[in-house]
Formats: sequence, C-alpha cells, structure tokens
Amino acid sequence: MSKPTLTAPAPARYSRLLGVGGSRGERIVPNDDIVGPIDSSDEWIQQRTGIQTRRYANEDTTVADMSVAAAKDALKNAGITADQVGAVVLGTVTWWVQTPSLAAIVADRIGATAAAAYDISAACAGYAYGVAQAEGLVRAGVVDHALVIGVEKMSEFIDPTDRSISFILGDGAGAAVIGPSDTPGFGPAVWGADGSKAQVISQTHSWSDFRRSGPDADHSWPTLRQEGPTVFKWATFEMTKVAKKAIEAAGLTPEQIDVFVPHQANVRIIDHMVKYLALRDDVVVGKDIVDTGNTSAASIPLALERLIREGQAKSGDIALQIGFGAGLAYAAQVVIVP
Ligand SMILES: CC(C)(COP(=O)(O)OP(=O)(O)OC[C@H]1O[C@@H](n2cnc3c(N)ncnc32)[C@H](O)[C@@H]1OP(=O)(O)O)[C@@H](O)C(=O)NCCC(=O)NCCS
Repeated sequence: MSKPTLTAPAPARYSRLLGVGGSRGERIVPNDDIVGPIDSSDEWIQQRTGIQTRRYANEDTTVADMSVAAAKDALKNAGITADQVGAVVLGTVTWWVQTPSLAAIVADRIGATAAAAYDISAACAGYAYGVAQAEGLVRAGVVDHALVIGVEKMSEFIDPTDRSISFILGDGAGAAVIGPSDTPGFGPAVWGADGSKAQVISQTHSWSDFRRSGPDADHSWPTLRQEGPTVFKWATFEMTKVAKKAIEAAGLTPEQIDVFVPHQANVRIIDHMVKYLALRDDVVVGKDIVDTGNTSAASIPLALERLIREGQAKSGDIALQIGFGAGLAYAAQVVIVP
C-alpha cells in the first residue's frame, strides 16, 4: 500500500505588514521631573539624547493592558479579526512573570484563541526579532496571519538615581499584523547577537540574588544599567553597518529608502545613522523618542504607528527598521509600509 501524502504548510509565498497600532503610557513626564536625583538638567538631557518628555504608564496599567490596546489598534488598522491570527509573538523584558508567557495572556484577552503564543527576550531588538520570525511563519505558510507585539513598562525597571540609562526610558506597546501577500513586503532580516558584550547593558543583579537576600536586602529590586559611551559607539558604528547590509540584502540603495524607523535610543544616534547611511534629504525619520522616550521593544512599532497616523509615512513607502540593544541583539529589515 502506498504511503499517504502529508498535509503540509502551503508552499512559500510573500508576506507583508497589514497594519500597526500603539499605546503609550498615560503620564507625560518632562525632564524637569526626573533631573533632581541624577544631578542633571532638562538642557543636558535634550542636548545629549533629544528627549523632552517620556511616557510612564499609571501604576495600575500593566504590560498586558498596553499590549491589548496596541494589538486591538493594529488589528483594526489591518482589517483583521483576532480569530484569524495564527501566532502571537511578543517581545518584552518587563513581564515579571517567568511563566506563563505574556503572549498567551494577551492572545486570550483579545480573542486570538486559535493562535500559538510565545514571548521572546531580545530587549530593544524584541519587536524586530519578532517581525523576522513572524513574517517567516506567514511566508512559509505555517500561519496566515501573525501578530507581533513589543511592549515595556520600563518605569518599573529604573532606578531614579541612576545616571546611565534610567532617564532615557519610557512605557508603551506597539503591535503589527502580518499577512500573506502577492508581492514582497519584507527584505531579508540581517540579525544577530554579540553576547561577548552582554555586560554593557544589563540588569544590576539577578532575580535569584533578589530572592535570596531576604527582607534585609543587600540586593534590592534589580534595575537596568548601561555603559552609555560604549553602547553609543557600538550603535553608531556597528549598527549603521547592519542597516546598510539590510538595504543591500533587499536589493536596494540608500536613496530608495523613503522612511527610516530605527530603535528610539538617542536622537544623536538616529541622526548619525541617517548621515552615514547617506539616506535622502527628504527621508522621513521616526523620532518618537522626543516625547515618548526609549520604550525598548515598543519603540519601533510606536514610531511607525505615529508616522502612519500623522500621514508622514504612506502606504507602499519603503521603510528601513533596525532594532538594537541588550544582548547585544540587533535586527534590521526593509519593510513596505502598510
Ligand atoms: C547615556 C548617554 C546619553 C550619555 O551621553 P554621553 O555623551 O555618552 O555622556 P558621557 O557618559 O560621556 O558623560 C559626559 C558628561 O556628562 C555627565 N553625565 C553623564 N550622565 C549624565 C546625566 N544623566 N545627566 C547629567 N550629566 C551626565 C558625565 O559625568 C560627564 O561629565 P564630565 O564630562 O564632566 O566628566 C549616551 O552615552 C547614550 O545615549 N548612549 C547610548 C544609549 C542607548 O542607545 N541606550 C539604549 C540602547 S538600547
């Protein structure tokens, strides 16, 4: 008797972004509100980072709440219902529960009950990693529609007296729906990680130290630290090269990029990249950081959501996105604006 033929995922096809959405922390926190404990000033922060205000979520607003809001917004903009979603891929480093995943909880809350759901830990590259995975799942026919979410409540991961990174960070969630397409909606992802530099952005100590130290804590709640100038150099030089490779991998030249949506780490890093990539003078550049702050995994989808909402990025535009941060993890990819 002949063997039966397997039912397998559909043959490879293209995938594209169908819609993006976002949700920012409710509170607008100006520099003047945080400079006291770090002996800084509004002027210094604006000059060195471009940040004027950041957004913090209310105490009782959770990463799940922000994810649900961003996901619903993205689904609405994509014209897709939650029951059509086959996978929810969520990037975060501020879900304080080891298991279950935040993705599973969010999938249930939005009604994506048929979806596979899992979290990924790639810090500020979390959304870009998620897109690289999800568009591959759609392209391979594993799922028809995937939802990618980047979410952080960084305000719970900061030390108000820390001068290295805390003053940069903010809270929010961004989401994107990816579906099948007749034409290519993504160039190849150029991604990787360099664990030899893991110490340059990391939490102060591990959760097990926190647990073991008991009520007379030597170790308080862990917070985030960075070696700012080292990260700055790595981002400006190494990440510019990665972005260039992503443009080349998509068969394009820098002049063909209409929209640039880098991780919102520092306006000076963004400006450097625009210059050294030799992007066009009229390229549209995401600078959501100025009033949202650095929201880690949420920063790219929030910046893109805003550019689309404000009419600066138009459907069909060719956009370059690049996420980078702790790990040190990074991912760059050319994407077509939905
Ligand atoms: C953090 C960052 C803004 C600091 O800016 P910088 O220009 O590198 O600052 P430096 O650490 O070299 O310090 C320069 C001066 O400012 C002072 N300074 C440092 N942090 C300060 C702060 N928060 N407020 C005020 N002054 C500060 C330093 O003491 C130093 O003073 P000195 O010249 O008298 O010695 C910058 O390094 C940065 O953006 N790094 C990358 C951030 C990033 O991308 N992180 C996220 C990756 S996901």
